[in-house]
Amino acid sequence: MSKEIVLSGIRSTGNLHLGNYFGALRNFVRMQDDYDCNFFIADLHALTTNPDPKQLHANVKHIVAEYLAAGIDPEKSALFIQSDVPEIPELYLLLNMHVGIGELMRTASFKHKARQALGIAKPGESEETATTGEDDEAFEKQIIGAETNKRVNAGLLTYPTLMAVDILIQKATKVPVGKDQEQHLELTRRFARRFNSFYGVDFFPEPYNFNFGAAAVKVPGLDGSGKMGKSEGNCIYLVDDPKTLRKKVMRAVTDEGPKEPNQPVSQPIENLLSLLALCNKPELEQQFRDAYADCSIRYGDLKKALAEELVTITTPIRDRINDILADEDYLRRAVKMGADKARARASETLKQAREIMGIRRF
Ligand code: ADP
Ligand code: TRP
Repeated sequence: MSKEIVLSGIRSTGNLHLGNYFGALRNFVRMQDDYDCNFFIADLHALTTNPDPKQLHANVKHIVAEYLAAGIDPEKSALFIQSDVPEIPELYLLLNMHVGIGELMRTASFKHKARQALGIAKPGESEETATTGEDDEAFEKQIIGAETNKRVNAGLLTYPTLMAVDILIQKATKVPVGKDQEQHLELTRRFARRFNSFYGVDFFPEPYNFNFGAAAVKVPGLDGSGKMGKSEGNCIYLVDDPKTLRKKVMRAVTDEGPKEPNQPVSQPIENLLSLLALCNKPELEQQFRDAYADCSIRYGDLKKALAEELVTITTPIRDRINDILADEDYLRRAVKMGADKARARASETLKQAREIMGIRRF
């Protein structure tokens, strides 16, 4: 029986952080033996927000090294760079003909990133919360009225089409991503269904998030609110050395301590405990929960324990990143192999999609 197709990508907008690792990369590594795995670096998506050419190239290279260091085996999984597969931009153009600008404008990630581009993002707003209670009409006016030096680029609007194409062009059905990407997956399913029904075909399968049966992960920031994210400036990076990492954890926001037994755990402390849980230390997590419940908890101890777990997880990865970065030849070979595999399937899907849409050669 052929294996189910898995696909996921990470944008090349900076070094990988614990959100990327626990939310995405760690799952990728676990899936390699049982699935037909395809992992990529979304450099075209990165252009929507981070178009500096020098940084972009350096970031792509660094993320390839990070993927490999975290345990992606280029012999088992196709590891490729999005822009090495030119079939993706072509299908993106074709699929856009079936996507509405209204539905794109209502996407939470678009609202958030558009407001960031215009410098009017609300404090505490995230990609997940941007839609809630939002006034669509006012938002639309802000976009249309934006001055050209602060424009919202069209690539940002059509970001979900490009992401849908990444997935659909490989006919992937399992997409391991963090919770923040679920709305994009929902749109991908909608676009697939729409294409299939418009042309009366059973062509694109509908993809779903995958986290080994568990709920999608949301790694919190250490600032007491929201998610850990590059643009939030609250990250612990895989390349952070132990000293930097410990310092960041020790500076994490806490509260004034529990005032009475069994009171509910406050958000900043819940964040630290959930990070401990992600380190696969349920007994340690429970120990600190008990201490919170009987008011004996010492936040310094919690932070120290968490920092040590994180150092243990990140140190071997960090060491490998540096070794791999020094081996240009290996990096080049890995992504060439990946691009060849990814292009083989992508060109087949594109050929069939063109045929279905009536774009035929004489
Ligand atoms: P960022 O949000 O920092 O820009 P990306 O958008 O490139 O990172 O995310 C790449 C992958 O990492 C996606 O699967 C995303 O869901 C996951 N991810 C990013 N941040 C988190 C987080 N805080 N918690 C869980 N998953 C996350
Ligand atoms: N949008 C994703 C993110 O910001 C990255 C991404 C692009 C992706 N294309 C994808 C993830 C396809 C999964 C599948 O994290």
